[in-house]
Amino acid sequence: MSQLVISRRLRAIDLAKCKAEGRKIIALTAYHAHTAGILDAHCDFILVGDSLGMVMHGMETTLPVTLEMMIVQAQAVMRGTTRALVVVDMPFGSYEASREQAFMNAARVLKETGAGAIKMEGGARFADTVAFLVERGVPVMGHIGLTPQSVNTMGGFRVQGRGEEGERRLMEDARAINDAGAFAIVLEGIVEPVARAIATNAAITTPTIGIGASVECDGQILVLEDMLGLSDRAPKFVKRFGSLRDQIEEAVRGYAEEVRSGRFPADEHTY
Ligand code: KIV
Repeated sequence: MSQLVISRRLRAIDLAKCKAEGRKIIALTAYHAHTAGILDAHCDFILVGDSLGMVMHGMETTLPVTLEMMIVQAQAVMRGTTRALVVVDMPFGSYEASREQAFMNAARVLKETGAGAIKMEGGARFADTVAFLVERGVPVMGHIGLTPQSVNTMGGFRVQGRGEEGERRLMEDARAINDAGAFAIVLEGIVEPVARAIATNAAITTPTIGIGASVECDGQILVLEDMLGLSDRAPKFVKRFGSLRDQIEEAVRGYAEEVRSGRFPADEHTY
């Protein structure tokens, strides 16, 4: 199936078109202008994920990430792109206290970055907040299953949906976020039969985006540095499509050797 051809920047509602036409939705994370620029022609949406705390800053979890960090990186990604929809993660502590807090911070993200949508972690208990934002003009992407901001209450980064109760709860979360008007839902770290049941459920009309979920999802997303082979560790659901860590290592070793031996800079690099 070919890519969605559109001459303007994609909007949140365009993902529904992909689903309706049976085109898989392609997404990756990016935090920088230059990498986002490479992704732009290939991705329907680029997520400025709060995973930037762990990937860029070496944090143990995403919890310390601030709204200001998200805004600065989202501005960079917007500068580097012209085509893909840019979605910005709401970091921990920026939306949970009330619907009003969520709206004020989401509005700030959209105003200060020019991004087209925000993403919020959480299931049924946040459905009311999702509906409140959508009614006020904020396109919301949901995120259920393994929600990294809940690492302390989940007891670790654990795969979700095991057992009857786990399945029932996730289906309820998906239904609630769908019915609240989310334009898409990320399904992360969910056992395949449950992820498949959600993705193929006729009542879930909004596109599902899988990450460690099911091939049946309407689209897939990965963290860019993981799939490029830049991260030293990555979860089981990551396929490494590149080996950038090795390539960088080799390039840096070559540079160090040439500087040490006096072979760099050569005449062609000298004014
Ligand atoms: O922050 C992030 O990168 C994410 C993706 C893993 C979906 O939320």
